[in-house]
Amino acid sequence: MAERNLHSMGNFGKKSMLALFSITTIMFMLSWFLVLRSTDRPLFVDLSILPNSRIFALADDQTGNQTPSIHTDLEVKPSKYTCDPVLKVYMYDLPPEFHFGLLDWKPEGNNVWPDIRTKVPRYPGGLNVQHSIEYWLTLDLLYSEFVENTSGRTAVRVSNSSEADVVFVPFFSSVCFNRFSRLKPHQKASVNVLLQEKLVTFLTAQEEWKRSGGKDHIVLAHHPNSLMDARSKLWPAMFILSDFGRYPPSVANVEKDVIAPYKHVIGNYVNDSSDFDSRPTLLYFQGAIYRKDGGFVRQELFYKLKDEKDVHFEFGSIQKDGIRQATRGMQSSKFCLNIAGDTPSSNRLFDAIASHCVPVIISDEIELPYEDVLDYSEFCVFVRTSDALKESFLINFIRSIGKQEWTRMWAKLKEIEHMFEYRYPSKENDAVQMVWQAIARKVPSVKLKEHRNRRYSRTPEPNDRGLKSAPLPKNFG
Ligand SMILES: *[C@@H]1O[C@H](CO)[C@@H](O)[C@H](O)[C@H]1NC(C)=O
Ligand SMILES: *[C@@H]1O[C@H](CO)[C@@H](O)[C@H](O)[C@H]1NC(C)=O
Ligand SMILES: *[C@@H]1O[C@H](CO)[C@@H](O)[C@H](O)[C@H]1NC(C)=O
Repeated sequence: MAERNLHSMGNFGKKSMLALFSITTIMFMLSWFLVLRSTDRPLFVDLSILPNSRIFALADDQTGNQTPSIHTDLEVKPSKYTCDPVLKVYMYDLPPEFHFGLLDWKPEGNNVWPDIRTKVPRYPGGLNVQHSIEYWLTLDLLYSEFVENTSGRTAVRVSNSSEADVVFVPFFSSVCFNRFSRLKPHQKASVNVLLQEKLVTFLTAQEEWKRSGGKDHIVLAHHPNSLMDARSKLWPAMFILSDFGRYPPSVANVEKDVIAPYKHVIGNYVNDSSDFDSRPTLLYFQGAIYRKDGGFVRQELFYKLKDEKDVHFEFGSIQKDGIRQATRGMQSSKFCLNIAGDTPSSNRLFDAIASHCVPVIISDEIELPYEDVLDYSEFCVFVRTSDALKESFLINFIRSIGKQEWTRMWAKLKEIEHMFEYRYPSKENDAVQMVWQAIARKVPSVKLKEHRNRRYSRTPEPNDRGLKSAPLPKNFG
């Protein structure tokens, strides 16, 4: 009896608690409702800071469309950005010597840009193309001025920098490094060094740079050795890089910067009807021997794998006629090795993707393009360097991956390969647009830093108040 009483007491307690809870919840919701109604602001966020509402809308849909009832009465005022899923980019009209002039394009009159409606200048071939992202992004911005229907585009050029989400610096630093690093007779410094000096002088004098301290600027430096001199001065900007191998974390890091794919030098595998059994080579590697840094890993793996019959492991970088051979090699292999060389990344990964050869990545420091939206483990195999160097570990591991698992990864490669294609004109979710989208996802954090930096912009400097200058708080970011 005593027990039952306790029970009913408990029940009664639970019921009243529930009622009390419901009432408070309703009151709470009501009060918020009234607060929201009384202010004119439909939402707490300033929608205008969201550069790419398409991305955010996608994120909302994934939460299961649970629209809280309290929002139904709220009128969301359409901001110009909510209807327009496009990244607004201001591009400096730098003199041609910084961009198409480096490709031997000769301007007519005072034109800064080629008229791409009549002729598009070519980017130099060979291994130069790996780092040609500078060319594709610039062309995409120029092209955006001629399209009226922006649907299906990610970035458009705007002529008013106050209306831009980011400021694009069209310096073709990779081709500049590749072609103009050599000192000509009687020159004190190479064109590559001089242009970087000029660029720093120009940029730091611009209103746009001063406004943000450079934080909303996009600076390209895809070749690991490009922008070697200017990087330590332009680091507040967002860099477009292939990896962080030759950068101290204070100058470049994954929070601030964007990793972009290499342009693959091996052709696409069109109409690939191969399968696990029709690709005779198990594991393929073709690459240079490096004496520095990662080089010893390649050497060690060579000794571990050279006697395996179905493994192709050769040193020597891909030369002109070697491309055809490498194409055949990758297209007839199940797995393609990516071993860190003198930098953590190389175009070999992107050659493997284009060949639908499942990449095996042995590079602990590698950074991958758009990894915040793309799960590479679905189509790549990652092996820690320390494991790969263990006796027989790598070959046993690769052999343990069966037909079913391989086929799943191969199918995924075919599904995502378009994200690594640099195209002109750009197509939806190709490499050009994926990189713009990656930039767009950084814009809110750039705004956050900018706004924080402005907190005390109205407060007089300590010196103005006749005080001894106190140590300023560390600059945020
Ligand atoms: C813009 O192009 C898209 C397809 O890319 C089409 O669905 C849409 O109707 C076009 N809009 C206008 C205003 O022409
Ligand atoms: C640029 O945009 C800002 C903000 O929208 C505006 O105040 C300014 O007048 C514009 N400048 C020009 C030259 O149109
Ligand atoms: C790929 O297949 C399509 C359709 O069957 C065909 O039109 C095209 O020519 C093929 N391309 C190549 C490179 O084989």
